Amino acid sequence: QKRISGAFSFSGRAARFFSISAVSNSTKVAVLGASGGIGQPLSLLLKLNEHIDTLSLYDIINTPGVAADLSHINTKSKVTGYIPDNDGLKHAVTGADVIVIPAGVPRKPGMTRDDLFNVCVYVDETNAGIVKDLAEATAKYAPKALLAIISNPVNSTLPIFSETFKKYNVYDPNRIFGVTTLDVVRASQFISELKNTDPKNEKITVVGGHSGVTIVPLLSQIGHTFTEEEYKILTHRIQNGGDEVVKAKAGAGSATLSMAYAASHFTNALLRALHGEKGVIEPTYVKSDLFTPDGIDYFASNVELGPNGIEKIFPLGKLSDFERELINAALPQLKKNIEKGVKFVVG
Ligand code: NAD
Ligand code: LMR
Repeated sequence: QKRISGAFSFSGRAARFFSISAVSNSTKVAVLGASGGIGQPLSLLLKLNEHIDTLSLYDIINTPGVAADLSHINTKSKVTGYIPDNDGLKHAVTGADVIVIPAGVPRKPGMTRDDLFNVCVYVDETNAGIVKDLAEATAKYAPKALLAIISNPVNSTLPIFSETFKKYNVYDPNRIFGVTTLDVVRASQFISELKNTDPKNEKITVVGGHSGVTIVPLLSQIGHTFTEEEYKILTHRIQNGGDEVVKAKAGAGSATLSMAYAASHFTNALLRALHGEKGVIEPTYVKSDLFTPDGIDYFASNVELGPNGIEKIFPLGKLSDFERELINAALPQLKKNIEKGVKFVVG
């Protein structure tokens, strides 16, 4: 439960001014990029979320229609749609407790996620530029919100957010998250296919970042035995799950439905923690000291969530030799991706 304060004034002989503190259960979640391939199914899933009272949808196009459509669903949340006109972005994010960001262009076959950083998508906008604009608005109008960044390349877009917040003197590393949940969801599903188990019982920690070799599933920690061959095949499939979907969609984009599911799961984890639930732990890409000696400031690992964001970052635990090699391969790539994001803002 969040505490809010308000002021009341009385006039007349006993005129005085005082403030009270009240408990509010009102929770606002904003989705930036809400009309897109991820944004629409994600907004649908969030409309079904009992933790949410106000669902605020922002995009450069089509949000009034998406909001009108969702607003007919008979769940308690109120849905509002904003476009850039009339300070739409400002109104969309003001007062938000959680902001989820799937704005930006997806990959086509042959592209890496890093290629999205610079590709010109809308007239003169790149994903890096879109994310920076949204970070500026968030820093100005919702600096205390918990932020879940989906826009690729996540390894770089999280540093863009952080550096922008630093510029506005509102940076709190505990509140900014890169969403890597889809890697966890995929790992769980792929392992259950191999072992013929129920995926809901397959909980896998995926660490590192969110692209190719930076995605490191810790398969040695889940209590299954794998042959060396299985280890390699599974790891390769988890690292390249995004490419599998990009290839199958053949130019029509990347994962949207599975991503909406993953983002809804992660947003719900943030909301559960915000509403006071203890022991909510999810792998996510955050500002982290785990690899500071290697010059790396952001890393995905298990994180305990609380009402103010990160409560605790867990170390990686015992690794197999194979996983240690994977981490060694991930670090230089991650470092480059992070530096690129930082440079985009700092210059
Ligand atoms: P999409 O093109 O279908 O949707 C993107 C939406 O962003 C569009 O509706 C567009 O109008 C909107 N948009 C563009 N500029 C904007 C701005 N300045 N403000 C607000 N909205 C803006 O793309 P998609 O398939 O939904 O993917 C979105 C992003 O998510 C891509 O960058 C993709 O690579 C990434 N993604 C990340 C993960 C992950 O695991 N983190 C998974 C899948 C996709
Ligand atoms: C994914 O993992 O599916 C996303 O990052 C989208 C992509 O470009 O692969």
